[in-house]
Amino acid sequence: MTEVPEPVRDLDWDPRLAREFGERALDIWTEMLARLDDDLPVSRQQTAAEVREAVAIEVPAEPMPVDSLVAYLRDMALERSIYPGHPGFLAYVSGAGTVPGAAADLIAAGLNQNLGGWRVSPAGTEIEQQLIRWFVGRFGLPEHANGFITSGGAMANMIGLTVARTVKAGFDARKEGLRGRPQLTVYCSAEVHDTVDRAVQMLGIGDAGLRKIAVDDGLRMNVPALRAAIEHDLEESSRPLAVVASAGTVGTGAIDPLNEIADICDEFDLWLHIDGAYGGSAALVSSLRPLFSGIERADSIGFDPHKWLYTPIAGAAILVRDRQHLADTFSVDAAYTWTDTDATGWGIDLYALSPHFTRGFAALKIWVSLLAHGWDAYERRIAHDVVLARYLYDQAQAHPELEVFGEPTLSIACFRYVPVDLGDRSDRELYLDQLNERILVDLQLEGPVFPSNAVIDGHFALRACIVNFRTEADTLDALIEASVEHGRRIDAELRSA
Ligand SMILES: Cc1ncc(COP(=O)(O)O)c(C=O)c1O
Repeated sequence: MTEVPEPVRDLDWDPRLAREFGERALDIWTEMLARLDDDLPVSRQQTAAEVREAVAIEVPAEPMPVDSLVAYLRDMALERSIYPGHPGFLAYVSGAGTVPGAAADLIAAGLNQNLGGWRVSPAGTEIEQQLIRWFVGRFGLPEHANGFITSGGAMANMIGLTVARTVKAGFDARKEGLRGRPQLTVYCSAEVHDTVDRAVQMLGIGDAGLRKIAVDDGLRMNVPALRAAIEHDLEESSRPLAVVASAGTVGTGAIDPLNEIADICDEFDLWLHIDGAYGGSAALVSSLRPLFSGIERADSIGFDPHKWLYTPIAGAAILVRDRQHLADTFSVDAAYTWTDTDATGWGIDLYALSPHFTRGFAALKIWVSLLAHGWDAYERRIAHDVVLARYLYDQAQAHPELEVFGEPTLSIACFRYVPVDLGDRSDRELYLDQLNERILVDLQLEGPVFPSNAVIDGHFALRACIVNFRTEADTLDALIEASVEHGRRIDAELRSA
């Protein structure tokens, strides 16, 4: 006779241990919050080898004592990390991370819902769908639009273009692939985020099918050049598929002329995907909405709550104008997920509308943040970020040793340090690039602020992107001051070398 197996319960921590460990994790988190505005640095001078030495420990065979584990986590969090939520963090497009969103993430992980299927995430799926309906309404998409939360803007672009391929290729790319078919072509501005290049590559369209359209003085897609490129491709027997319009470019926050691009898409029967990974959140704000006129005409929109809705990483939305197009692109016949919804009354299984199968409850941190703060607070803060970028731009413009690049549209301002006595040396631009690159390295290593860079018209610029509800004018003053201080010192070093 087979013996009844003995229980193996090592992994099943009881609620008392869960509380003990959870409370100590909360201590680390709240200590970080308390010190963000105080003594935690925005940057740390530490090499990869030093961090590895501190964090890359061996997996023990036996449980690590809780005290040691907590000490290890505290060191990782408070000595070895950097903080996008620090008031001085102005780099890339890194949302500060809402506080209620972080707590919601703990609940989401604790519940361990799988938003691939309604039956394994009943409240989760209904909350996510409610969130998506709210986004759909605020963007002005029709009621039959739908979507879901994915990992980031990269995946949102990939998904938008995959649906575009289903709907506009003119053949069944899902079944037949692309072999022997006309070259599909996708259009975007030269300022588009690199994830669009990768999406086109992953879709099998390849770089040969990606057209980077020139931009105007405001770094927005040049629409006559777009038209010319489409007409040229049609003459060459290629098959124009989609335009990716940027609603907030990663470099400077430029918004492509959405209505004019939508007109072109109508005229040539092309899919309009809008990459609003950064700027999309601002399109939800009443006072900024006019900047995004035409966004409601998109066939698909990607936008990242983990950027400018400030929610903790990761969670981005992909919205598709007609939910049937999601089903046409992603439906599968997964026999192993059989159920009888007539008998159960269960709801929609989102795995059949997305490329994901198992999917976490990332929607909860976005939803809880909206509930906890209320939308008016978002309207005020997102609009304030735009005001702050303008403030930074004005301060830089007024400074005799700084040169600004373009006026900010959203919450990005770019400038560079230019020594007043530099003169017209033959290698001027090269020298300024080198000088500003070194300023950026020193700022990122030493603080007191952590900006990043943009390359604008071939020039290296210092760039601040404010998607951080802890940043205020004093931080931006500190950025100006530190950029000039570093600039003067490095310029002197370079010229005396
Ligand atoms: C305009 C734009 N599109 C796409 C992305 C990629 O988004 P994610 O990093 O969330 O994948 C970014 C990231 O900064 C972006 O700014």
